[in-house]
Amino acid sequence: MAIEKPLVLITDYLEEADIENPVLESCAEIKILNTHIDTDIDPFASKVKGILVFHDIKISARIIAKLDQCKGIVRCGVGYDNVDIKAAGEKGIAVCNVPDYGTEEVADHAIMLMLAIARRLIPCYDDIRSGGWQPNHVFGAPRLRGKTVGLIGCGRIGTAAALRFKALGLRVLFYDPFATPGLDKAIGMERCHSLEEMLPQCLFVSVHTPLTPKTKHIVNDATLALLPKGAYLVNTARGPCVSGDAVVRALESGQLAFAALDVVEKEPLDDERLRKHPKVLLTPHSAFYSVEGFIEMRRKGAEEVRRLVLDQPVVNLVNGHCLTNPRFKLPLSNLS
Ligand code: NAI
Repeated sequence: MAIEKPLVLITDYLEEADIENPVLESCAEIKILNTHIDTDIDPFASKVKGILVFHDIKISARIIAKLDQCKGIVRCGVGYDNVDIKAAGEKGIAVCNVPDYGTEEVADHAIMLMLAIARRLIPCYDDIRSGGWQPNHVFGAPRLRGKTVGLIGCGRIGTAAALRFKALGLRVLFYDPFATPGLDKAIGMERCHSLEEMLPQCLFVSVHTPLTPKTKHIVNDATLALLPKGAYLVNTARGPCVSGDAVVRALESGQLAFAALDVVEKEPLDDERLRKHPKVLLTPHSAFYSVEGFIEMRRKGAEEVRRLVLDQPVVNLVNGHCLTNPRFKLPLSNLS
């Protein structure tokens, strides 16, 4: 009698498993759900061993409570705010992410957005498309060299963005209470110990934090008011890090000159004030993507779930702090 292979679910985003199959076919059976709703996991909940989650679905405590044999949930991406990591930890389930597939792409995207709003790309483009050829749309654009950019959060992507901003001749400041001491010296930037210290110095601000209770609305009316008038804001982190209401008010008052957002509080975007605002540039949470990066993300996600299924130590555990009775092999760094 053939032995049944462990079941691995791919919950959302994918309609095929071309990248995952070669990694997993020898050790697991893959089922693609292609759903946005966690109740669609229910029929498989009692037997699934591993779950690959992309970004259209929330994995709540309700469904986690039913995952009686599951060893781990791998979020194929960096941010894992769509998985209840605490509920998973209490159930003995690993939550892992794929932290390093798209660092360069998101940093490139942040620079692109900043350049586009500083250099007035969209008004010029729109004018030409509608028959014009007016250079005056660029009037008011600041010289970048010598200006100051402030990074809120300076981990992988913030650091990669810092290197790119430095190449443009900008002075780079960052606020990140958890960054390793000396990061400022390694990269050649300046560390600030509060937003109150950093923001008044910054014509440009770029957000690079995860979404946590502390970073929700870290950009709000009060923090925007600390900036010099006519500042530029870029958010490629998570939508709720920035209050959309506060951005609209700051644009109306002139406190912000322009805002460029790859992520918004509710996705897909449902805020017509942002969608239609002439001083808002939007991209549809696409900063993560490149052909190579997307393949890397999927391959690394599949490799992590393979380690779970085969009882090998995982590499990118994110809920080690709230684990009880893990059903999987801890990473080497947790074993000392
Ligand atoms: P990371 O973990 O390397 O860096 C995040 C940094 O934020 C850390 O250094 C951390 O200390 C800092 N931080 C945490 N709480 C903070 C606070 N209260 N104030 C200031 N800094 C704080 O993560 P990475 O790879 O740089 O990614 C950052 C975020 O970018 C992810 O969490 C994700 O939400 C977002 N992202 C967005 C993508 C997109 O397509 N738009 C794609 C990939 C990531």
